[in-house]
Amino acid sequence: MNSNVRPDSMQRITTKELADAFISEQVALIRKQVGDGKVLLALSGGVDSSVVAALLIKAIGKQLVCVHVNHGLMRKGESEQVIEVFGKELDANLIYVDATDRFLNLLDGVCEPEKKRKIIGGEFIKVFDEEASKLSGIGYLAQGTIYPDILESDGVKAHHNVGGLPEEMQFELVEPVKLLYKDEVRVVGEALGLPHAMVYRQPFPGPGLGVRCLGAITRDRLAALREADAILREEFDNANLAGKVWQYFIAVPDFKSVGVKDGKRYEGWPAIIRAVNTTDAMSATIEEIPYAVLHKITDRITAEVDGINRVLYDLTPKPIGTIEWE
Ligand code: XMP
Repeated sequence: MNSNVRPDSMQRITTKELADAFISEQVALIRKQVGDGKVLLALSGGVDSSVVAALLIKAIGKQLVCVHVNHGLMRKGESEQVIEVFGKELDANLIYVDATDRFLNLLDGVCEPEKKRKIIGGEFIKVFDEEASKLSGIGYLAQGTIYPDILESDGVKAHHNVGGLPEEMQFELVEPVKLLYKDEVRVVGEALGLPHAMVYRQPFPGPGLGVRCLGAITRDRLAALREADAILREEFDNANLAGKVWQYFIAVPDFKSVGVKDGKRYEGWPAIIRAVNTTDAMSATIEEIPYAVLHKITDRITAEVDGINRVLYDLTPKPIGTIEWE
């Protein structure tokens, strides 16, 4: 039987009991596969890699080495949460690499979206490889491949790209959630005790805020984007919209307009709110956000975020607009 095909008899994991049974089964399988070997994992902090990390920590503890590369394009608090949850609470063997300067220096002056993506993806693999090369005795590479990845592509996530590792490193793959759908991965993550916010995290592009800081990324505009995005998320939480809207974020374009603040001319960037509902991200509709919430977000962003002087709400469905702005 092809181990990449989900058997028809496999029950959909919808409850804590079913998740616990899956976890016990996988813990045994991982121990059997790995023995006393060492496993490497690129831990982005996304749902899939986080659940794989938690499963492996349960199965083999410190035999798992997690590498978290902070490319400087994470949302506010995300790398900190990885360190808190995996480094402290789960006491994982975690290597944290702050590569912000490397990424931002390479991206300096680069406007073209595809070029930005290539630089971020390429540098990510380079940093990960460098860390992997410093380790000895690694025999396995864990990946957060899930079933839709297998159905939709060749089953290898770009960010965890085995092809990007140095040739002398021959790793056997450990992919404990490869037959699960996203909703099942989340149920398993909660059963493993991961924070709700981590398990129910919105989709976030691999190149992170790099695709939402439009044009050539600058440190000041990136910082403004990160703060504005954090305010948006906080206010959506406060208004109970977080579970109701599929994806919401801020994009900041690379132009300024004139405004007035404290009686003086104040040039700033606009912050664009995107809040969409979808089932498969192929098409998307616009959620009707109450005006009171929009006003509150506008007031907070313009008052609290340096460099932003307008807040806009994107009403464009997909198609014709894509979900991301880039
Ligand atoms: P678009 O902008 O094409 O986005 O309408 C559709 C969905 O894909 C997400 N997205 C990504 N997800 N890596 C990902 O894992 C990426 O590089 C990437 N780029 C876009 C986007 O956030 C939306 O949910």
